[in-house]
Amino acid sequence: MSMTIRHALPADLDRITEIYADAVLNGTASYELEPPTRTEMGERFEALMEGGYPYLVVERDGAIIGYAYAGPFRARPAYRFIVEDSIYIAPEAKGAGIGKALMQALVDESTALGFRQIIAVIGDGHADSASVRLHEKLGFHHTGRMEGSGYKHGRWLDTVFMQLALNGGATLPPDPGSMPERRFRAKGGQG
Ligand SMILES: CC(C)(COP(=O)(O)OP(=O)(O)OC[C@H]1O[C@@H](n2cnc3c(N)ncnc32)[C@H](O)[C@@H]1OP(=O)(O)O)[C@@H](O)C(=O)NCCC(=O)NCCS
Repeated sequence: MSMTIRHALPADLDRITEIYADAVLNGTASYELEPPTRTEMGERFEALMEGGYPYLVVERDGAIIGYAYAGPFRARPAYRFIVEDSIYIAPEAKGAGIGKALMQALVDESTALGFRQIIAVIGDGHADSASVRLHEKLGFHHTGRMEGSGYKHGRWLDTVFMQLALNGGATLPPDPGSMPERRFRAKGGQG
């Protein structure tokens, strides 16, 4: 068995769309109720690529079994050093350490790009949820809980917030050579 983590390509989007559709229909991590189309997933992918954000897939024996990306938390420019992660592992591949390996790769990519914080906004978050456990294993700490943030599959859901500092977090000034700062300044931002 061989496992590879690599950057996502447009050709991967059919499988990514399928994996996400399963999570939307059967899970509570995503607050979407209708699975997005392949076209919509492609537009989301392109927006992340244009912004320079990392988007990864994991393959096992040549088949994509999961994907993860780090995208903007909010659009306003003072948020430019913080990314929000998203990760989805195909049902048949869960619980085998793949999520952990993929999330570690996403943290490493986000670090290399110069982001300062990576956060998880975990739908239906609770102490035993796989996503909370996964983020704890990677060193994320808890930063809050929003009660009753969603209603899906006949019940109310809480959102758990977790966060990991990268590249010194808030202890150092912004790095002019980092990707988010270079893009911001290229658009005329003054910091
Ligand atoms: C959350 C998710 C990405 C984890 O990926 P995974 O490959 O199943 O997780 P791993 O096997 O790498 O396990 C990572 C850690 O999570 C914990 N974990 C995994 N599955 C779990 C489960 N069903 N219940 C509780 N904890 C679980 C384990 O503690 C594990 O740590 P370990 O090293 O001590 O075993 C995956 O389950 C998934 O896609 N879930 C649905 C979508 C989702 O919740 N995405 C996150 C959105 S923020």
